[in-house]
Amino acid sequence: MEKDILNLWDLKKSDCNRLIERALTFKRDRKSLSKYRPLVGKSMGLLFEKASTRTRISFETAMNQLGGATIYLNPKDTQLSRNEPIKDTARVLSGYLDILVVRTYSQKIIEDMAAWASIPVINALTDSYHPCQILSDVMTIVEKFDTYEGLTVAWIGDGNNVANSWINISAILGLNLILACPENYMPDPEIIKKARNEGCGNIKLTTDPVQAATNADVINTDVWASMGQESQIEARKKLFKPYQVNASLVAHAKKHAAIMHCLPAHRDEEITDDILEGPNTLVWPQAENKMFMHKAVLEELLIESDR
Ligand code: CP
Ligand code: NVA
Repeated sequence: MEKDILNLWDLKKSDCNRLIERALTFKRDRKSLSKYRPLVGKSMGLLFEKASTRTRISFETAMNQLGGATIYLNPKDTQLSRNEPIKDTARVLSGYLDILVVRTYSQKIIEDMAAWASIPVINALTDSYHPCQILSDVMTIVEKFDTYEGLTVAWIGDGNNVANSWINISAILGLNLILACPENYMPDPEIIKKARNEGCGNIKLTTDPVQAATNADVINTDVWASMGQESQIEARKKLFKPYQVNASLVAHAKKHAAIMHCLPAHRDEEITDDILEGPNTLVWPQAENKMFMHKAVLEELLIESDR
């Protein structure tokens, strides 16, 4: 694998499959692996410019359980807040840390960070991508259905960072993905183009949520306004209303269709409470699985690549 995980384009299908299998093993064998400490002596920095509950805590717990140390870096408390350049910060942190997990705004920031860092840099969400989320989401699908092959995943709502990463993984793994988004809120056209030119997935776009939901095996959604878009919340609430994942929309999907949401959710906005909490919800294992996937990612980047 590449040094960094900035998006999923650099991963091959075999890399994704290996990480998914390893994450499932970490979950299944959690008792027998409870003393597995391959990362003793390694340190992970977490530089988060946006809020996080799941990603940050699951990365920290994953590293702690594998024996490594974690250092949370609030950018406001570092010299980044006083305009120290990213290229200087990245080189200095590379001297102290073994790996750096970054949540930030533009993809360019994390690309610059990775270009100047000699240690692996992991994208914990940017405005463009959320790669580790989608790796663990596909793990959750495999856990539920035993495979991702042949399944149809529907994305309903905003064509945002999480949607972009779904397009990314669908192109790599060959998933059937159909996205229903309002006309001016489609995913990044460059990412769609790349997926269609270079990928093997079957990726469709529509503005019709019923078309996307029909016969889907998985219904996936996310907030209508992502972090950084707070000023658009009220306008988006009106515009996205037809894209709410509710009982009447889910009725078009297959009977067993799993409901996914990376969380945090806004109940009765993008998803109704009865569907989020309903019998087909996968959101709680989906959240839990992030920790197992992060263990697989840390092991891969900090050990496997040394072998
Ligand atoms: N799904 C997710 O990334 O959640 P957090 O923002 O809490 O990390
Ligand atoms: N699209 C959301 C995902 C949060 C995990 C955001 O960027 O805020």
